[in-house]
Amino acid sequence: MSQFFINGGRPLHGEVVLDCAKNSLLPILAACILVEGRVELKRVPKYSDVLAMCNILENLGAKICWQGSSLFVDGSTIDKAAICHELACPVRSSIFTLGPLLARLGKAKVAYPGGCDIGLRPIDLHLSSLRQLGCKIIEKNGYIYGEKGSATDQSIMLKFASVGATENIMMFATLLPEQTKIVNAAKEPEIVDLACFLNRCGATITGAGTDQITINGVKSLHGCQFLAIPDRIECGTLLIGAAMTGGQICIKNAIEKHNEALIEKLKNCGCKIFSDQKGLHLSSPKCLQSYGEIETAVYPGFPTDLQPQMVALACICKGCSLIFENVFESRFNYVGELLKLGGDVKFKQSVCIVRGREKLYGADVSATDLRGGAALVLAGLASEGYTTVSKIQFIERGYFNLAQKLTSLGADIKRL
Ligand code: EPZ
Repeated sequence: MSQFFINGGRPLHGEVVLDCAKNSLLPILAACILVEGRVELKRVPKYSDVLAMCNILENLGAKICWQGSSLFVDGSTIDKAAICHELACPVRSSIFTLGPLLARLGKAKVAYPGGCDIGLRPIDLHLSSLRQLGCKIIEKNGYIYGEKGSATDQSIMLKFASVGATENIMMFATLLPEQTKIVNAAKEPEIVDLACFLNRCGATITGAGTDQITINGVKSLHGCQFLAIPDRIECGTLLIGAAMTGGQICIKNAIEKHNEALIEKLKNCGCKIFSDQKGLHLSSPKCLQSYGEIETAVYPGFPTDLQPQMVALACICKGCSLIFENVFESRFNYVGELLKLGGDVKFKQSVCIVRGREKLYGADVSATDLRGGAALVLAGLASEGYTTVSKIQFIERGYFNLAQKLTSLGADIKRL
């Protein structure tokens, strides 16, 4: 199993370019099931979750090929509607294929999805919404069997602004003859990106980015070229890393608006952050103050995907920090590993309290999930001495060439 080997204590400095957003590319790849033509996705990082989605699409009959960092997907040859357990369970995003398969082929047999161990990860909102739109959905022996019917109700009110459920409904409704509304829709930038992609393929979706999305169905979708938005969670992870190591970085293609909640908290810590034509700049103070408290929430609230990285930061801020995890029910599994590095962290259910320490000290730790693993890497970069991070396959689900990127910013990190 690969590991990261880190010699900590060196400030991150210099310029870096973000990869395209994992949480845009995954639903967009599922949306290729709807497209009877060839799609070119530009600058696609080989996240392991992206490769898993490519396997799923190929298994359905799509043609996939890479030319440099461009990924070509031709969904016109898709003729299968079944996704087995082996292909579905490594990733959460396999569930995003349900809506598109029902819309394009009228039926689907999809094994339950996987995803990071950060909570139960139910799919009840996905299934109840598709049922409301006339689909017959049966769950049996670890599979979801679906059949498209005639829509009875064209307005879906989500009881929680679920990102995945919003995406599944949006994709399914794209090929329905009627108009469909999603009320209390998720507003994440990745939702807007998916709507842009679908509209580029000929769909007519309005309101993405607000809590009410309207989809006017079309007969079919054609191919297109598309460049997904930069990854705001990678951006936040690098900003926090620079803050933790007393560094100074410029993120050249950052979209500042996507990280407003984080930027406010990093300024509370004493970081100087500003944007100019070169990009988003952060310089860290010698001594970090605690940011106070964080409550994770749906966008534009504080992103749950940066919660672990902010707990790692709190470990070396002066004072106490309080973190409330309101989105997932068990997203503190990585804390035990932070304690090995000297962090003073306690949590009970969804509340975590951190008492800042002067220093962290290198140790051998193991990633528990994608963002918890990223938090351990940041803590290792800020620690005195050597840290090994094992089980980095979790981290490589959503960070591509992480060791190279950090090395280019002055870190001493190797992928073994
Ligand atoms: C997406 O997951 C992201 N994953 C997650 O990123 C992200 O943390 C999450 O949205 C929230 O922003 C991808 O896009 C591939 P949700 P998703 O549906 O769609 C509950 C990362 O690290 N819920 O908004 O699974 C659910 O249990 C990953 O990149 C239901 O109860 O998130 C959770 O508590 C982690 N029933 C909450 O809603 C449902 O049917 C948020 O889930 C669906 C969700």
